[in-house]
Amino acid sequence: MNITFNNHYQFKNPITPSFKSNVRMYTTKDGLNMANVTCTFRNDLNWADFAKFEIDNFKNKDKVNIIQFAASDGSEAYTQIISLLENGDANSTKKFFPIIAYDIDDRIVNIAQTKLLNLDVNDKFKIENNCNNFNKYFTKFKTNLNISNYAYDPFNFYPSIDYTTYEVAPILTNKVCFNSGDIFHIAPKIKDDSNTIILCRNVLSYFPKEKIQNLFKIFSQNLKTGSLVVTGKLEEEAVNYYLQKYGFEEIMQNVFRKI
Ligand SMILES: C[S@@+](CC[C@H](N)C(=O)[O-])C[C@H]1O[C@@H](n2cnc3c(N)ncnc32)[C@H](O)[C@@H]1O
Repeated sequence: MNITFNNHYQFKNPITPSFKSNVRMYTTKDGLNMANVTCTFRNDLNWADFAKFEIDNFKNKDKVNIIQFAASDGSEAYTQIISLLENGDANSTKKFFPIIAYDIDDRIVNIAQTKLLNLDVNDKFKIENNCNNFNKYFTKFKTNLNISNYAYDPFNFYPSIDYTTYEVAPILTNKVCFNSGDIFHIAPKIKDDSNTIILCRNVLSYFPKEKIQNLFKIFSQNLKTGSLVVTGKLEEEAVNYYLQKYGFEEIMQNVFRKI
């Protein structure tokens, strides 16, 4: 399994992944070993530039449908909403919401639905760097939400020292809806009018090449000119190449537009 390790971690443990606030490992119903690893403002995307591009690319549309697959604990949805709110005005951004977010893992969907989010100091720092007022979006929760991390941390040692749980403000939670769902089942049902943004970040590279190619064929058939597909770091090496093969051009790092 491909996990990024954090060289700066204070304990220098070789099995400590980079994001400590959520390092949960689990096995899917299909028997695939999977990680919920995520964080706010994951740095494989320039979120501010992406938000400005979203606003400009869809300036002639009344409604834009954002579908987030592999949404994990909600870090990615909150990042995208904050980026839109901080880089656009209420009028130009309201058509993007609500984001419809899916993850195949019921447990992490339940966690996202609590409207709580675990942040470590690095996550908090990145949010502060990308918005005017952290407290507008997050308030310290009275206790810490414990996400058990089966494989890496059976004794829940790291979370108890590394993260703080925050209550996410309605200005964010009202703009996203978290659901259980499998990208491979939902993608064929997507209807588009050149007004769709699909995020499938840091998830596709867990699957075989044929399955990915078939998914991109479906994206290519269902999405019209101007709609977007957004991938992540894990897709950069091989997966992104197939997107270009199926009629998408790379607009910026990991952001692809249907030609
Ligand atoms: C490594 S995390 C990436 C989270 C986030 N997208 C990011 O980039 O930070 C992968 C997530 O994909 C979810 N996942 C795995 N297979 C999936 C599928 N077939 N459909 C939807 N989500 C899936 C996992 O449960 C996990 O939460």
